[in-house]
Amino acid sequence: MQPIRELVRQMTLEEKAALCSGATAWRTQAVPRLGIPSIVLSDGPHGLRRPAREDELGSPSVPATCFPTASAMACSWDRQLVREVAQAIGAEARAAGVHVLLGPGVNMKRTPLCGRNFEYFSEDPYLAGELAAAYVEGVQSTGVGACVKHFAANNQETDRMTVDAEVDERTLREIYLAVFERVVRKARPWSVMCSYNRLNGVYTSQHRWLLTEVLREQWGFEGMVVSDWGAVDDRVAGLAAGLDLEMPGPSPANAARIVEAVRTGQLDEAVLDRAVERILTLVQKVTSSPAPAPPVDVDAHHRLARRAAAACMVLLKNDGQLLPLQPERHRSVALLGGMAAVPQFQGGGSSRVNPTRIESALEAWHHAAPEVAVTYHQGYGQDGRLDEQLLRAAVEAARGADVAVVFVGLPDGVESEGYDRKDMALPGGHVALIREVARVQPRTVVVLHNGAPVEMAGWVEQVPAVLLAGLAGQASGAAVVDVLLGRVNPSGKLAETYPMRLEQTPAFLNFPGEGGRVRYGERVFVGYRYYDTKDVEPLFPFGHGLSYTTFAYGPLTLSRSTMGPDESLEVSLTVRNTGERAGEEVVQLYVRPRQARVARPVKELKGFDKVALAPGESKPVRFVLTAMDLAYYDPARGAWVAEPGLYDILVGASSRDIRVQATVELTQGLNAETRLDEESAVRTWMQHPAGRAALQQALPPEAFARLAAQPPTSFLWELPLKKLPLLSQGALDESVVRRAVAALRA
Ligand code: BGC
Repeated sequence: MQPIRELVRQMTLEEKAALCSGATAWRTQAVPRLGIPSIVLSDGPHGLRRPAREDELGSPSVPATCFPTASAMACSWDRQLVREVAQAIGAEARAAGVHVLLGPGVNMKRTPLCGRNFEYFSEDPYLAGELAAAYVEGVQSTGVGACVKHFAANNQETDRMTVDAEVDERTLREIYLAVFERVVRKARPWSVMCSYNRLNGVYTSQHRWLLTEVLREQWGFEGMVVSDWGAVDDRVAGLAAGLDLEMPGPSPANAARIVEAVRTGQLDEAVLDRAVERILTLVQKVTSSPAPAPPVDVDAHHRLARRAAAACMVLLKNDGQLLPLQPERHRSVALLGGMAAVPQFQGGGSSRVNPTRIESALEAWHHAAPEVAVTYHQGYGQDGRLDEQLLRAAVEAARGADVAVVFVGLPDGVESEGYDRKDMALPGGHVALIREVARVQPRTVVVLHNGAPVEMAGWVEQVPAVLLAGLAGQASGAAVVDVLLGRVNPSGKLAETYPMRLEQTPAFLNFPGEGGRVRYGERVFVGYRYYDTKDVEPLFPFGHGLSYTTFAYGPLTLSRSTMGPDESLEVSLTVRNTGERAGEEVVQLYVRPRQARVARPVKELKGFDKVALAPGESKPVRFVLTAMDLAYYDPARGAWVAEPGLYDILVGASSRDIRVQATVELTQGLNAETRLDEESAVRTWMQHPAGRAALQQALPPEAFARLAAQPPTSFLWELPLKKLPLLSQGALDESVVRRAVAALRA
C-alpha cells in the first residue's frame, strides 16, 4: 500500500464514504483501483468464531480451539497465561485469514444477572484491565488486531440496543471507563468497539465525549473505532463523534448520507478523511506481514486449553481435605449429573466457538485413573429438570461408592448474549441431586459449571467440597479430573463476589431499569466495593480460592513511611509454601483510605501477583504504588484526587482474608487543595490561611473581628459564605462575598 495520506488524497468522496462501512458482515471494503485490500474481522473472545460462509451473519463457524471464557480465565489471575492463550487464539485467527479478533470483552460485572458476564473478566476494573491488556498483547503479538469491546456501560442485555445507562462521571471514571483506560494505555489495542446502548442520553456510537475526548484525547488511543454490529443510529453524527467503521456492511444508505453531509457542508470532509485514515492504518498494519501464517498445532492448543482450564478452577470449599481424591483410598467413584458426560463449557451468542474436540470428565477419568471403579448416572433431565427415576438411580450409585462427584451448573441457553438471567438459581433437578446425594454420601464433591454466580443456600452446608470449574472451554472435563486427583493443585481465585442471594447484590434495586433507562444508583460501590463497605457477608468473597497446600505471608515492608504525590512506594513481602505440595498463590494488594471528602470503598484492589512455590519454598513479592493508586476521581476538578493523610496497604489471600498490613502517609495531597467559593462554609474559609486572609480583606474590621471570635461550631461559621450578608442583620452588604472571592483569586 502507498502512504496513507497519499491514498486518501486519491480517493473520491464516494469511495471514502463507502469505506466507512463493511463490504459484508465480516469484511471491510477493498478499493482495487488503489491496491487497498479488504480485511476480515471475526469473534472472539475465547476462541475464533470464523463463519464458514462469510456473507451470512448466522453461518456456522469453522472449528477452533475453545479456551476458557473470560469469566473463567479471570480466576487464574495470571497475566502470562492469559497472554499465552490470546496468542494461541491470534495464531488460529491468522491461519484462518482473520485480521481483527473481536475481543476482549471487558465490561464490568455490575450485576450477576447480565447474560454476557461469562464473556467478561471481573467486577474489578484493575483485575479486568490487567488481564485484558495481557490478552491484547497476546493477540497482537501474532500480527492480528485485537478489538476491545463494548465501549461503554454495556452491563446488561435487557434492551441492550436502546437502553440509556445513567452513570455519573465519577462512577464512569473509577469503574466502567477505568478498565478500558487501563487496556488502552497499557496495551495499545488497534481497535475498540463501541456498544449498542446509550450513555447519559446519547448512543455510544455517536458519543463525542466518549469516542473522541476521553478515548483519543485523554487516553491517547490511536486505533480504529468500529461499531458493534448494528449499533449505528445516526451515521453522520457517529462519524463526527469519532466512530470510524460501521459494521456489518454494506450500508449504502449511510454511505449516501455521508456524501450528502459533506456536499451540504454539514460534515467537514477532513473528519471523513481522518476516519478513512484510521481504517487504512489498521488495514495496513494487519496486512503488512509478508510471512505466511504458520500452521496451527491443534493438539498443542488443546493441551494449552486444558492447562488454562485447570489454572482457572477455584476450590471454594474443601472441608476435612476431602480433595484431592486418592485412588488408593477412594477405590470407587460415582460421577453424577449429565454435565459429567456433556460438559457445559461456554455460553451462548456471538462468542460461541465450534470446538475442535470436547473432553468430558467421564471420558478423562477413564484415562486418568483406570484403577478406580467409575459409575456414571445422568441424575437429572436434559434440561436440568427433576426426574425421579434418574435421581433415584444416581442416589443409589452414590450410596454404594466411596466418593460421589456431582456435576451441576447452568444448562445451555441460560447464560447468553441477548438476554439476562432472571435469578441466580441452579435448575431444580441439579439442586435435588446434590441434596439427595449428600444425604447418603458424606464424601460428596460438587463441581460447578457456570459463568456467573449461582445461589447455593440449602446445599452448600451439606457438602464438604465445592469446585468451581466455570465455563472452562473444550478441555474442561480433563482439567476437572486433573484438579480432583491433585495432578494440578488448584490456584484460581474468584474474580467476582459470590453473594448469598440476589437481593443482596448492589444493583438489585436498579436493574434492569425502567422506561428505557437504567440508573447506576449504587455508583462506585460495585462487587466487593459494596459488600465490604456496607459490611454485607457474601457467600464467597472476591479473591477467595483454596489450595491443597498452605501459604504464610511474611511481614510487609514499605520502602518509605511517608510519600509525596510524585513519589512511588515499594511494598514487599515474602510468601512461603508451608504445606506439602507445590502450589501457586495469588497475592492481592488492596488500598484502604483513612480519610476522604467523598464516600469511598473501604478497600480497592491495586496490585496482584501469582507466585509458584515448591513445598517449603519462599519467594519475595513486590508491588509499586503511586499516589494515583490512592486516588478517586473528582468530576468538579476533572482530576484524580488523593487527600493528604493515612492510607493502609492491605495484602492478603482474598478481599476478606487480609494477612498483613502497613500504613503510609501521603504528606501532600494529589490535586487535593481545598476548594473555596461563595458556597463554601464560612468555617472552611476561616480555617484556610488564604481564605481567612481574603475574608479579612473583604470584611469591615469590626465584622471580621466578631466573626473570628465565634467558635467553629457556631451558626455563622456553618453558613455558606453567600448567606452571610443576608443573616448579618444589615451589617454586611452583598458585595463582601464578591470581594472575598476576588481577594482569594488575587
Ligand atoms: C456482539 C459483539 C460481536 C458482534 C459480531 C454483536 O452482537 O455484541 O460482541 O462481536 O455481534 O458478532
